[in-house]
Amino acid sequence: MEIIHRDGLARIGRFTTLHGKVETPTILPVVNPNLLVIPPKEMKKFGAQAIITNSYIIRRSSTLKEKALKDGLHSLMDFDGPIMTDSGTFQSYVYGDVEYTNQEIVEFQRSIGSDITTILDIFSKPDDTYDQARNAVMETYRRVEEIPDYSGSMLAGPIQGSVYPDLRKQSAELMGGSRADYLPIGGVVPLLENYNYETLVDIIVSARINTNLGKPIHLFGGGHPMFLAMAVYLGVDLFDSASYVKYARDGRLLYPEGSRDITKIRDFPYWSPLFGKYSPSEVKRLEKDEKTVLLSRHNLAALFMELEEIKERIHEETLFNYIQEKSRAHPYLYRAFMRILDHRENIAYFQDISKKSPFFYYESTSLLDPSLSRLMKFSIGYIERNRRDTAIVPADSWRPGVPLKKEILALYESNPLNVMLEWCDMLIPMELEETYPVEQHLTSSHSDEKTFIENYNSIAFLVKPHLVRYLKDMVVDPENKAARNFDLEKIRTVADFQFGIGSGLALFPEDSTIIKSRSTGRIRNILYNGKITGTMRTMDGFFTLTTYGGEMLRSATLYPGNRVVVGRDSAEYNIKGFNVFFKFILEADENIVAGNDVLVVDQDDRLLAVGKATVSGKELLSYKEGVAVKVHHAIS
Ligand code: GUN
Repeated sequence: MEIIHRDGLARIGRFTTLHGKVETPTILPVVNPNLLVIPPKEMKKFGAQAIITNSYIIRRSSTLKEKALKDGLHSLMDFDGPIMTDSGTFQSYVYGDVEYTNQEIVEFQRSIGSDITTILDIFSKPDDTYDQARNAVMETYRRVEEIPDYSGSMLAGPIQGSVYPDLRKQSAELMGGSRADYLPIGGVVPLLENYNYETLVDIIVSARINTNLGKPIHLFGGGHPMFLAMAVYLGVDLFDSASYVKYARDGRLLYPEGSRDITKIRDFPYWSPLFGKYSPSEVKRLEKDEKTVLLSRHNLAALFMELEEIKERIHEETLFNYIQEKSRAHPYLYRAFMRILDHRENIAYFQDISKKSPFFYYESTSLLDPSLSRLMKFSIGYIERNRRDTAIVPADSWRPGVPLKKEILALYESNPLNVMLEWCDMLIPMELEETYPVEQHLTSSHSDEKTFIENYNSIAFLVKPHLVRYLKDMVVDPENKAARNFDLEKIRTVADFQFGIGSGLALFPEDSTIIKSRSTGRIRNILYNGKITGTMRTMDGFFTLTTYGGEMLRSATLYPGNRVVVGRDSAEYNIKGFNVFFKFILEADENIVAGNDVLVVDQDDRLLAVGKATVSGKELLSYKEGVAVKVHHAIS
């Protein structure tokens, strides 16, 4: 799987099948081979790139089976794009045992030319006991491993484990390391049917963060538009949807935030293929089959429209804002959203160092946005580290939305070395004032005490002016015994935030020269011994390092901190400035933050280049295709 764009765990990706490429996130409409409500060919017009059908149904019907074996699956379905086949697991869950073995059904899928074949996994139900769920996980793993190697179609190995997070984790790890190259999350249909999105959030998170991220992740049965955005936010790449027909049969229409009954609507929305062609009462009076076809078309359009918006949001890096908006569409979604926030530490790990889009502050729950986690932790640590002889409030008594204003003011007074900025109801080190998202944010607050004092790139920066004046006076006051070089303090603190505590001291010794922009007065380049060590980016306030700076950081930090280690084959290219590809990475620091600068070194820890990691540390070792580090400065 190749990653084209990412926004935290969400990604726009691409993988190749025997019948072409699939760009994710996407939905595979479920097609019943006995009953083509909408011809698969026509589905392309709605945006479908691939479809899913059931090999078990094909195999049980002698006519379908013969035709599929003779002419192939693609001819049977009259579709030339990628086709995934399921195995009969779901039928065995609904009707009891099926009459084929795992190996037989996989062999059958391969012989009819399926692009993604699915093993006969064991469906673990939400109400399974722990032991039942554990057996399902182990047996499913055994079944994926018993399948003979095959170079043709991809193999789907479902992640099971019911509602038990440790079993989902175990299954995710086993399947991630297995021969399966496509990972559906299974056993969740009953939860989807009951709109139990909260439990689903737990399941997706445990599966997603513990598996091999280089393989596409599919949510079996997750085809309702209202939950798509949240599932994609948690890292689901593919969905299958039978809901477009199921709802149509019941006279129900799908919308991005829910569904409506045909008997209750005034008109079709403008985006519906039925809009302007039919009135709801005309459709209501049609024969059942004809009505199902029309409503299925509307429903497919709803699904793919929502998907397009989600992809746009990933591209724009505003998917969190979108799921925040969607959470108000239905109380069940709100509950799911709150559960997503409970997982913010796990999600935070995958966030890029900065985003294209500003941070939106609405009220105190906005502070639970996973993209703030790193800033929050650093700020608490800063208070702890700078705690001098005076008593201060312990960091663990701090909660989002509960600023320690009084205590912190007392702290300023007792020790001017601690310079904090009140920002969006939290306190952060003043030195980070220009880093993302401190400067790049928009807030709903219009309190009298606050006012716009800065306005860079039309991004409002709201702070309490009296507080800022007080702090700035204090740090530049030459009479003040504790006065210090705020600029030096600033670049060091930013470096500590960016590369780890202590990096600031290593990168920027006392006699570094700080060059500021003549027009904006803002820090630009840092020089040491006449050479540039780093440049502070206007875009997000973080540093881009040169190889000179990179070497200073390398020699001061323990291996493999901040490093991506490559083999000899790659080293000779990277030293000349070529990008690092995933497949050549031998080792990488797990703490690497996506989008941050990293040191590219060889096995002997010699610096080859400095560049920007495209993904986080754990992901660097998972992917096999594409660019891992975009090199911007190389040794030779
Ligand atoms: N369809 C819906 N859920 C499942 C599942 O858990 N496994 C398989 N193979 N298909 C499904």
